[in-house]
Amino acid sequence: MTAKNTSAWTELQNLADAFGGTHLRDLFARDAQRFEHFSLRYEGMLLDFSKQRITSEILAALHTLWHVAEVPALMSSMRTGELINQTEGRAVMHMALRHSGAEPRYVGRNDVMPDVRRMLNKMEKFCADIHLGRWRGATGEPIRHIVNIGIGGSDLGPKMAARALTANRAKNIRVDFVSNIDAADLSSVLENCTPANTLFIVASKTFTTQETMRNAVSARAWLVAALGEAAVAKHFVAVSTNLKAIAAFGIDPENSFEFWDWVGGRFSVWSAIGLSLALAIGMENFRQLLAGAEAMDKHFFAAPVEKNLPATLALLEVWNTNFLGAQTRALLPYSQSLELLPRFLQQLEMESNGKHIDRDGNPLQCASAPIVWGETGTNGQHAFYQLIHQGGRLIPCEFIAFIEPDFDLPEHHAMLLSHCFAQSEALMIGKISEEISNGVSSAPTGEIPSLAPYKTFLGNQPSTTLLLDRLNPFSLGQLIALYEHKVFALGALWNINSFDQFGVELGKQLASRLLPMIEGRASIEGIDSSTAGLIAASRK
Ligand code: F6P
Repeated sequence: MTAKNTSAWTELQNLADAFGGTHLRDLFARDAQRFEHFSLRYEGMLLDFSKQRITSEILAALHTLWHVAEVPALMSSMRTGELINQTEGRAVMHMALRHSGAEPRYVGRNDVMPDVRRMLNKMEKFCADIHLGRWRGATGEPIRHIVNIGIGGSDLGPKMAARALTANRAKNIRVDFVSNIDAADLSSVLENCTPANTLFIVASKTFTTQETMRNAVSARAWLVAALGEAAVAKHFVAVSTNLKAIAAFGIDPENSFEFWDWVGGRFSVWSAIGLSLALAIGMENFRQLLAGAEAMDKHFFAAPVEKNLPATLALLEVWNTNFLGAQTRALLPYSQSLELLPRFLQQLEMESNGKHIDRDGNPLQCASAPIVWGETGTNGQHAFYQLIHQGGRLIPCEFIAFIEPDFDLPEHHAMLLSHCFAQSEALMIGKISEEISNGVSSAPTGEIPSLAPYKTFLGNQPSTTLLLDRLNPFSLGQLIALYEHKVFALGALWNINSFDQFGVELGKQLASRLLPMIEGRASIEGIDSSTAGLIAASRK
């Protein structure tokens, strides 16, 4: 149900009005135990949200909203395989992909677990065959280079995770990812490939996505030109829900890895879409990733809202977005290995919850997903943090850091953490002109009168810090599942179907219409003057 029209929402609005511009530094001054009061721990994860602009009263009201919006009821509908993706008539069962227990998981009357286990075993055998050199290319040489061709959910999850787990990568095998229709993407990868050692994975849920199909056709032509048509069987495998289309493309069904329509594209890294990742890190590590996600599933379903990490992140986002008016959230991993996490979460969060119509077909009465963007620390500090500190906008920030490094050089990690913690402190506390003129600033005294306003930091910028023990396959699984459940919970709170994505269709349709015009095969009559002008210019 829509949380918006409930008394819990009104109560939160009243609390927001009363809270006004209360400064975080005052909240900390009033409560020496603020960290203890506003932080949660769960299996190697610490979530510190004490630097959010909330009070105990606000948090309690958010917890009430959770129940009033009937989030637990939608959780159980998801778990029991109901068609909660109602606009596409599909269940949402990606959790089954990491379910290790013996209990069945039903979609309708069908227990999906035998298929899930069969596919994991097939992936395991395939990885072993490649790693041990049992699978050979057409010339008898072992495969040394994997190229995953996919886009969106068929690219971002495995690519982000393979990058994140660089420290766990299998030796002697290189994995690259090609997604963009821009020839620069495929060409630059092929430049470093030798046909005899290269295996392509064509990954597409639908097996109709234009970019992926075009790249696959071009990769196939590159291979056939070097090794002949018969080589395709040894150098191409495919991952899809559409086995017929795989066969039509000319890939042997034996070399196909199936998944199912109850797995959303952006939730599919746990399925055979993760094959490139499993090849990059080994199946044992891939199973650890699944185990981490399963641990988070158990936490999400068992923990009360007061102690629930995904629920807390979702409720804080509702508070910041709908009551404080934030339009954006900066994601700031202090981990170079997580450099692709912002991109992955952009799809997960914005494709899922960037909606303006609710589950009942009515216009949404409140703002939905904020714009997610970000960059690793400390790099971002030297680029855009200036605006977060002094640009005057409300930008809730999310810091992610690890207590132990995944790569170790003397003294680097303590410095990295010092920056991470210093940034959230600076954003919270700020620096006002009295402090500067009182000599708290290290600026030369002569500059103070004229430069004080420029050196003022208003602070009061809310942030959350997620501190994990270490980055490994298990904790990455926990982290991804944490965000998946947060996205689901936000959909429930906003009464949005988080699992369709009709907003991507219009551009695709128009591109199909414009292509023949750009290629000079169709007249540009009847389209707007700007688009016509651009096409005409491109045709020169
Ligand atoms: O265009 C958006 C989208 O449908 C995403 O939701 C999806 O992850 C991506 O395209 C790729 O789709 P597919 O896996 O079917 O190629």
